[in-house]
Amino acid sequence: MYFSHTFVLITLPFFTAAIPRAGLPTSSGIAIPIAKRVSSSLVGPSRYASRVRNSIAKIKRGMTIYQRNTGVPHPLSGGIKMSRKRDKTGSVQLADDYPELWYGTISIGTPPKDFTVDFDTGSSDLFVPSKSCGSSCSGHNAYDPSASDTSRDLRKNFSLAYGDGSTVSGRQFADYVTVSGLVAKDQTLGAATQYSTGFETSQFPPDGLMGMGFKSISVYLANPPFQTLFSGGAVSSSMFGFKLAPNGSELFLGGVNSYLFKGPITWVPLSNESYWQASFDMITVTDTVTQLGFSFPVVGKTETIFDTGTTQILGDPVGINAFFAALSPSGAKPAPEYGDGIYTIVSTDSEA
Ligand SMILES: *[C@@H]1O[C@H](CO)[C@@H](O)[C@H](O)[C@H]1NC(C)=O
Ligand SMILES: *[C@@H]1O[C@H](CO)[C@@H](O)[C@H](O)[C@H]1NC(C)=O
Ligand SMILES: *[C@@H]1O[C@H](CO)[C@@H](O)[C@H](O)[C@H]1NC(C)=O
Repeated sequence: MYFSHTFVLITLPFFTAAIPRAGLPTSSGIAIPIAKRVSSSLVGPSRYASRVRNSIAKIKRGMTIYQRNTGVPHPLSGGIKMSRKRDKTGSVQLADDYPELWYGTISIGTPPKDFTVDFDTGSSDLFVPSKSCGSSCSGHNAYDPSASDTSRDLRKNFSLAYGDGSTVSGRQFADYVTVSGLVAKDQTLGAATQYSTGFETSQFPPDGLMGMGFKSISVYLANPPFQTLFSGGAVSSSMFGFKLAPNGSELFLGGVNSYLFKGPITWVPLSNESYWQASFDMITVTDTVTQLGFSFPVVGKTETIFDTGTTQILGDPVGINAFFAALSPSGAKPAPEYGDGIYTIVSTDSEA
């Protein structure tokens, strides 16, 4: 046995599932199989720092769009800070924007053409590569609006900035988007003519991304596909649910899959229609020193964003410090030498 360091990190708190809007649970609905991207569990500190930076940049991007769309700042925007400091390595990371994404198949156009997309509750826009995208989209399936009878050119461009300074940009179209046989007609989507480095096939296996947040954080200021499905009557309930597991994962549209859980659902009010945002009561840590099983709170009532596009829990430095300090007898310590939001903890696991 020897001691080594493992790395842990932060974000705004998040969980692995989102269950929209109040309503009665129902088992009528449609399940879409989704797969988890297989990514290496061994990730160095600079890559972790890059992920944290990209997660923060993603949230900031959504909040900027929110303010542009609504004219008021996002209620949590005051709490998001990002250090201007670069990584100690000084190198520009390949932006691993979506390290743990969950993706499945949708189709676009008439006749329908299949695309794999990351189902992301932390954003609200659908985009796939355009046929006129060059090498930055290579290896991905491409959308050709001229080959679709139902496509409509919206005569607007779009551009999404990513944490590494690169962008996804292209043109907006409206077309039929089919998810498990459910059709969202005249759905606004982006046909990307430029993909950022984080969307290269080596880092991002699906073709595109399907945002499942609210219109207020849509860069197109358009209804996201699920809202279009609901307003068009393709689903009778405005609920969806995720099962995120090593196998058998699914996205369930138009309800919740009552075969996948036991007992009642705990409903919490949505605090803002932008992200899937609610508050949790507290985070407690069980005392490991005395082994008496006592739990004590380290973080109190906190606003939370449920984002299927990240596996990190981001939080404010005070709460995060309290959490990590309580984790082991010696506690975890901030390790700014590796980057913002990186902590080290002495590990007794020789595999670590
Ligand atoms: C949209 O992008 C295309 C291709 O880059 C460009 O030629 C065109 O001028 C842009 N249109 C607008 C309205 O910005
Ligand atoms: C899914 O994973 C669980 C836990 O690893 C395993 O017990 C189960 O047999 C797996 N099911 C399938 C269908 O592979
Ligand atoms: C979301 O936050 C904004 C800004 O604080 C506020 O004006 C708006 O009413 C909130 N929306 C909901 C649905 O609570």
